[in-house]
Amino acid sequence: MNRREFIQALGACPALQALPHMALAAGSPAWKLGFDGVSGDLSPLSLKVQGAVPEDFSGRLYRNGPALYERGGRRYQHWFDPDGMIQCYEFGPKGVTHQGRLVRTAKLQQEERAGRFLFDGAGTHFADALPARSNEDGNVANISIQPLNGELLALWEAGSAHRIDPQTLETLGVKHWSDELKGVPFSAHPHFDDNGDLWNIGSVPFGARPMLVLYHVAKDGTLRNARLHQLEFPGYMHDFVLTPRYLVALNNSAVLGAGDTFVDRMRWNPSQPSQLLVFDRSDLSLQATIEVPATFVFHFGNGWEQGREISFTGCAYPDARIMSDGMRLLAQQQSGAYHTGAELVRYTIDLPARAARVEPLGVVMEFPGFDQRQPFRAQTLYGSAGQERSESSLGSAVVAVDPLTGKQDRFDYGDGVVVEEPLFVPGKGNNYLVHSYLDYRAGRTGVALLDAQRLASGPLMRAEMDRVTPLGFHGCFLPGADASGPNSA
Ligand SMILES: [Fe+2]
Repeated sequence: MNRREFIQALGACPALQALPHMALAAGSPAWKLGFDGVSGDLSPLSLKVQGAVPEDFSGRLYRNGPALYERGGRRYQHWFDPDGMIQCYEFGPKGVTHQGRLVRTAKLQQEERAGRFLFDGAGTHFADALPARSNEDGNVANISIQPLNGELLALWEAGSAHRIDPQTLETLGVKHWSDELKGVPFSAHPHFDDNGDLWNIGSVPFGARPMLVLYHVAKDGTLRNARLHQLEFPGYMHDFVLTPRYLVALNNSAVLGAGDTFVDRMRWNPSQPSQLLVFDRSDLSLQATIEVPATFVFHFGNGWEQGREISFTGCAYPDARIMSDGMRLLAQQQSGAYHTGAELVRYTIDLPARAARVEPLGVVMEFPGFDQRQPFRAQTLYGSAGQERSESSLGSAVVAVDPLTGKQDRFDYGDGVVVEEPLFVPGKGNNYLVHSYLDYRAGRTGVALLDAQRLASGPLMRAEMDRVTPLGFHGCFLPGADASGPNSA
């Protein structure tokens, strides 16, 4: 596919259209605070620390997530929609501080000047919305943040990355990998190999020829390789798996069809088997397409290889209601039944046989993470858990799971707390798990630190502030003031 065809495929994606405005249900749930949003940046604040920050733990926890829900009297209706904010928790000798800055995308600046939302969101339609000229008009940079070569990248999944200053959180501009790839989707879940190189996908399910873009970026930020792959069907893809030799993506059974908004168009199709796509990392060529029963996975754990087998884990939903219903009801702050939680499953691909086993591990969890120093070893996965019985359908616990046996260690903060994505941080002695959280009954946002080997003993330290910040998606931890990449830890 040449550049002209590529742009046409992108242009055929007026991604973001129509959803009827739904009024807030009477009797708003207590957890609604996490979805109230902000109207601007959050100034630096010192947190009240309970316990002590360990001497070998210092650095910054950066997080990204939807934050600006309302403008000009109107409100977004889906968790994917609001403009992104980078939040930073800094751990040092003086304690813990927090600040937040909105990512100043072109969209945000244009809408700021207009005093209203000008473009539709992925799940919200405004009757007077301007037509999207490209995906970049809807780029809210609100899903994740990852380090690369001294900068941070605020990532969306349907457009460009935004460069962020790790010290000031200022938006420095849009990251272009090459002239040909300007504005081409770059997912929010790049993965680093054991040399520090970055690998990513970009999903382009629109138009007559749905495409997947594959990226290999050197640790100094230069593009090593990029390749387009034509998909057999326009499924949703959010994350992928990296192994020593392969890049594995899963084309989900939420398939782009007719509908109003992008989210509405991504319809669950149980008769469409999902497809595991196995690419050779050396040249990004497709090696195998392997069907598995219809599933919906946002996030995967790390991958490893043994003999002819490729193994990895994923948080698998039985359908796509998390995206079509759950994330909508959360943003609308409505009580009700949201969705079924994701169960951790282990995938084992027998590459010569072109076959795969999918084995449930008996743990409901999301936001899987791992020790990034050894990305290709079967190792403990960490995540948020307890979704199956919480008021909001969001997790109230942190969990560590052995991907081979399913054996768990966990700590549950109990009702009233929403645990955000926990991150593994290596220390000099202990290893740590750090995560932010919302205590919505107390009306406080906080951050907690646990011993990664002993989660059940509870937090070593908690620090809270007298304000609530919007619940977000993904983050990264950088030790000290360094921002050169996870393998520098
Ligand atoms: Fe994600």
